[in-house]
Amino acid sequence: MFANRILSGMRPTGSLHLGHYHGVIKNWVALQNSHDCYFMVADWHALTTNYDAVGGIEASIWDMVIDWLASGVDPDKATVFVQSKVPQHAELHLALSMVTPLSWLERVPTYKDQIEKLSGKDLGTYGFLGYPLLQAADILVYKAGLVPVGEDQVPHIELTREIARRFNNLFGREPNFEELARVALKKLGKASKSFEQLRTAYLQDGQAEALAGAREILLASQNLGVADRERLAGWLENKGKTILPESEAMLTEAAKMPGLDGQKMSKSYGNTITMREDPATVTKKVRAMPTDPARVRRTDPGDPAKCPVWQLHQVYSDDSTRAWVQAGCSSAGIGCLDCKQPVIDGVLREQQPMFERAEPYLTQPKLVREIIAAGNAKAEQVARTTMQEVRAAMGLGY
Ligand code: TRP
Ligand code: SF4
Repeated sequence: MFANRILSGMRPTGSLHLGHYHGVIKNWVALQNSHDCYFMVADWHALTTNYDAVGGIEASIWDMVIDWLASGVDPDKATVFVQSKVPQHAELHLALSMVTPLSWLERVPTYKDQIEKLSGKDLGTYGFLGYPLLQAADILVYKAGLVPVGEDQVPHIELTREIARRFNNLFGREPNFEELARVALKKLGKASKSFEQLRTAYLQDGQAEALAGAREILLASQNLGVADRERLAGWLENKGKTILPESEAMLTEAAKMPGLDGQKMSKSYGNTITMREDPATVTKKVRAMPTDPARVRRTDPGDPAKCPVWQLHQVYSDDSTRAWVQAGCSSAGIGCLDCKQPVIDGVLREQQPMFERAEPYLTQPKLVREIIAAGNAKAEQVARTTMQEVRAAMGLGY
């Protein structure tokens, strides 16, 4: 296990907006200084829902990677790569699919949600059902210890842990396994004694009935969580070592970047400022933002709490500017356009270095392709080693 290793991914959605920057990428940029980071363009993932519109994927990849680089993702510190160019993701996905119960995938909360939400599209596909498993493969193929994700992705990390556990119990075993198995055994209560006897009978004499009987006890027990059930299932057959370590979700504090209308910034709401939006458009967009509806005239006092502009002051303004807004708004001492100016200045200030960093990649797209090619090669080296172990464990070591 690589406790210091981070894997994170993003679907290629084209140019990113400031919500992506504040919600995700800014965090990546900080993490690359302290962790061994793998940042992945999840192009296979894009196909799980957009298989009917593949024309834009390539352009979206390059636009998105340029925005990563513009944000300060540094290819000398982090490994930046494209998922489908590292074939071991697909290979591990297939290998894991052999041991993944369908019910585990069907109960992932995003599964039914998304099918309902995107009801105009047929998502009754094998690929869509399996997409959390593909995500598990993304993580496990690097044996990443940590995965920075938002709240909504936590169930996917939980699934990843369950899959890893199941894989290890089928094909390997964790280090303090014996101890944990003993604890789990106690949870069987009255049945624990007969479970242990059946195990001994099976391990000593290879009695198939003993194995079946012990498995029945596991199935029947009400008291076991998934982890303990998997442990006891492994312990029952006395299996080997940990191959795929259990990663942990690294909850990034949900920096919900407000959009131009006060809702969360999101492309689907049409309320975004893109990372490299030109300054004239930024100015126009902010100046057109709705304000406290009570401020009809310049002379009407307002309440920042009811104004989306105030939310952007939380992101872009210092204490003294915010005090100026509070006082000026509630006394009608300042106009809304005055109030918006520091926000405009703040966004432009933030974007300035992004434009500068993006510049060489825009004029020489070859540079981006080289960065990705190097990242793919580095990622593949790691992924290949894992796959060798996985294949060996699964009896495919030839
Ligand atoms: N599932 C994520 C999304 O749809 C993207 C993703 C793919 C990912 N593989 C990952 C995120 C692995 C973290 C780790 O946005
Ligand atoms: Fe909003 Fe500022 Fe106008 Fe008050 S002065 S309503 S906070 S834009």
